[in-house]
Amino acid sequence: METKFIKINTNSPLAPQLEDAAKIISRGGLVVFPTETVYGLGASALDADAAKKIYTAKGRPSDNPLIVHIHKPEDAEKYALVPPTYYALAEKFLPGPLTIIMPKRDIVPKNVTGGLDTVAIRCPKNEVARELIRLSRVPIAAPSANISGKPSPTSAQHVIHDLYGKVDMIIDGGECDIGLESTIVKLDVGGATLLRPGAVTPQMLSEILPDLKIDRGITEKNETDKAPLAPGMKYKHYAPRAEVTLLVGDNAECAEYINSHVKNGDKIGVLCFDEVADMINGGNVVRFGKRSDGKAHAKALFSALRNFDGTDVEKILATAVEPVGIDLATYNRMLKASGYTLVYLNK
Ligand code: TXA
Ligand code: MG
Repeated sequence: METKFIKINTNSPLAPQLEDAAKIISRGGLVVFPTETVYGLGASALDADAAKKIYTAKGRPSDNPLIVHIHKPEDAEKYALVPPTYYALAEKFLPGPLTIIMPKRDIVPKNVTGGLDTVAIRCPKNEVARELIRLSRVPIAAPSANISGKPSPTSAQHVIHDLYGKVDMIIDGGECDIGLESTIVKLDVGGATLLRPGAVTPQMLSEILPDLKIDRGITEKNETDKAPLAPGMKYKHYAPRAEVTLLVGDNAECAEYINSHVKNGDKIGVLCFDEVADMINGGNVVRFGKRSDGKAHAKALFSALRNFDGTDVEKILATAVEPVGIDLATYNRMLKASGYTLVYLNK
């Protein structure tokens, strides 16, 4: 398939630049577009055949539901049975990096929701994404624009690597601001449950959802046969080619461990806090930002994991972040990337 590529000029009006892309969406084609979290692989959310193409392009299992992206928060009414809590959340967080799961309306095809009776709704903040949805005149179903199992793409380069030749168009809108996928909250009669952590943190949500439940799968391995609440969480995720080991300890403990392993001459990639990077010698080092800088960690993770794929490293040692605030999201993705391989260095 021929893939068109356009680069957004942020200094000129968006609508003329996005007209072709909107036509492709409304005619049932596939367009990769930027959001503030990660790039999305979009198609009309009201067209079952278009949704099918998404699963094929990504190599994604068809029981894994897609997120439906809308132009403005009120549009949720058209696709979901919206409880009052949605509006309380929308007022504070939308447009923004928060996805809300609610009972679906019939207009949304079953294959968009992986056969479920619920639909995930997201109103992104990124202006290119919003303008594309508006011009397409349909909501846009979009998973992250990576090959299934790989880290989500945070730049157009990542998308080209995974999907060039498999989609009708790629829109380059520069690097994504946040770098990790949206927070997912499920609303139902039993209350609200956090299914995936993101830039909208549990602390932020608790102002509106004081009884927010946290799905255990966010920080713990699912050892049982019980299906996870977000089907996508059961698949191997975010995995680079090399094995990832997470180091839990203070800066000195992490540096000591890394130095003793790098010495063996193995091909080792290191993803570590700046403070640790200043104390180690050797290894293929990528800086994670300061230990206290949660936003930097979120932005660096996926790009770092992908960069190691382009090198000959066979093992990656990564300093673990604390599971609080936005770092809870980074911690969750790191756990999955490592297959839950942790080394505790605390004395
Ligand atoms: O930031 C984001 O959310 C990005 C951008 C493109 O918007 N999208 C994204 O989509 O991360 P995806 O498909 O990679 O992840 C969506 C997750 C999956 O784990 C899926 O199983 C879950 O949301 N999900 C979607 N609809 C659901 C539903 N009705 N019930 C439970 N989980 C659902
Ligand atoms: Mg994904």
